Amino acid sequence: MSRFKAVIFDLDGVITDTAHYHYLAWKSLAESQGVHFDQAFNENLKGIDRMGSLDLILASSSRTYTPQEKLALADEKNLHYQELISTMSSSDLLPGAVNALNAVRRAGLRIGLASVSKNAFTVLGRLGITDKFDYVVDAATIVRGKPDPEIFLKAARELGVAPADCLGVEDAVAGVASIKSAGMFALGIGHPFVLTEADVVITSLTDFNLESY
Ligand code: G6P
Ligand code: MG
Repeated sequence: MSRFKAVIFDLDGVITDTAHYHYLAWKSLAESQGVHFDQAFNENLKGIDRMGSLDLILASSSRTYTPQEKLALADEKNLHYQELISTMSSSDLLPGAVNALNAVRRAGLRIGLASVSKNAFTVLGRLGITDKFDYVVDAATIVRGKPDPEIFLKAARELGVAPADCLGVEDAVAGVASIKSAGMFALGIGHPFVLTEADVVITSLTDFNLESY
């Protein structure tokens, strides 16, 4: 028996490793603007929405950008990203992801997805797991990205479950902060030294055990 009534998953870095595709697309965009970009910097962008990520990258540029220029650069990055994810399939599911989703379903809990990615529906479709979710937040309807609690609160509301009865699953520092400020239990995927705000941290969903949280 689980003490929760719903589990709300992040997508990128939890269910599939799109972080690498985001990295490749941001790296080529940053370098086209003369900005150095590496894996360490990419860590700061996990869970951060598209325009927020662009602002962080352009903060290291020697020039300033108009809002129109920024939108054009964000579109350019997104087109590249969409090209990279166009060949994704169920083989891109991270180990343990489907088992975890099935275990939550078997336990009779509701299942939500809270990703700030505007490509989340496409990625779920390519992975072939869209029907495993009772509710997927449309990132286009979210005003404040993670670490604001808005996206997790919206998922809980639409699932008809009180935040205190929700378990949130996240790989990013900003995402864990979003779950905690929504008043939910946070399961971190990654390293406890990084995800210090999480209630429990596991290495990957292969270690997911609903009854133990
Ligand atoms: C996720 C990823 C971020 C990405 C964001 C927006 O949170 O972790 O790296 O920037 O989604 O993705 P999008 O597909 O809308 O550009
Ligand atoms: Mg993530």
